[in-house]
Amino acid sequence: MLISTKEMLLTAQKKGYAVPAFNIHNLETALAVAQAAEEMKSPLILAATPGTLRFNGSPYISAIIKEMSQHFMIPLTFHLDHHESFEDIKDSVDLGCRSVMIDASHLSFEENIAKVQQVVQYVHALGGTVEAELGRIGGVEEDLVVSENQECYTDPEKAKEFVERTGIDSLAIAIGTAHGLYKAEPKLDFARLVAIRKMIDVPLVLHGASGVPDQSLLKTVELGICKINIATELKIPFSQAIREFFITNPEENDPRKYFLPAKEAIKKVVKEKILLCGSQQKA
Ligand code: 13P
Ligand code: ZN
Ligand code: NA
Repeated sequence: MLISTKEMLLTAQKKGYAVPAFNIHNLETALAVAQAAEEMKSPLILAATPGTLRFNGSPYISAIIKEMSQHFMIPLTFHLDHHESFEDIKDSVDLGCRSVMIDASHLSFEENIAKVQQVVQYVHALGGTVEAELGRIGGVEEDLVVSENQECYTDPEKAKEFVERTGIDSLAIAIGTAHGLYKAEPKLDFARLVAIRKMIDVPLVLHGASGVPDQSLLKTVELGICKINIATELKIPFSQAIREFFITNPEENDPRKYFLPAKEAIKKVVKEKILLCGSQQKA
């Protein structure tokens, strides 16, 4: 059975750490992430975008993660990342997923609320949890492209109203992080994070963690972030390891061989990020 992220995030909030949510793309990346998290005894969220579900087939990804949640000795679950369509969410929830993000941050405040309410009603009835975004996180993640002039930081007062009216379980906030890597070191608005944390009590989520300096990431956890989303910083070493493998082994054609160093490369980064989240030994 796939579980919601309610317990995981509330426990993290109470104890002052963050649960890492790593974006996975296939069986190899999911297994590498889970093996590293298990070695660190960290709770774990495996996140999939609509693009990942399209690429692999939703039923296969759900079945793989369901199976993994039985066999890994850590709290491990499946989360839908940046879903914009109620129908897509419904399809995965009907396949067993119990943790979803509805991203309607591109809509107006009222439209965002209406869309989130619809998802909350459906998912809560089945015991699942819902994350939504207020403000707009910049950068590029697959189909999701938010230019700098579309970026918009989360307003603390509005966040309070948003949480109250939607009944969401966690809130993704925009405080200066962006999807992908950064051209210059990101300047995070920590004062805004503190203000939001004072106004609302649901766990807060930080997107766009790749490229954020370690000290800044640690500080966001200290100030109340309970879930940290990491994608790009796993994709890069995974691909780089395969590239290097073929330079030294140009004749190799066995995927079971060339995926090995790629999985090891991911595991190393996962462990480093878990230490920054403070989620080691919390499983
Ligand atoms: P990064 O690619 O910057 O790590 O962002 C990940 C993310 O927010 C996934 O939702
Ligand atoms: Zn994100
Ligand atoms: Na980023």
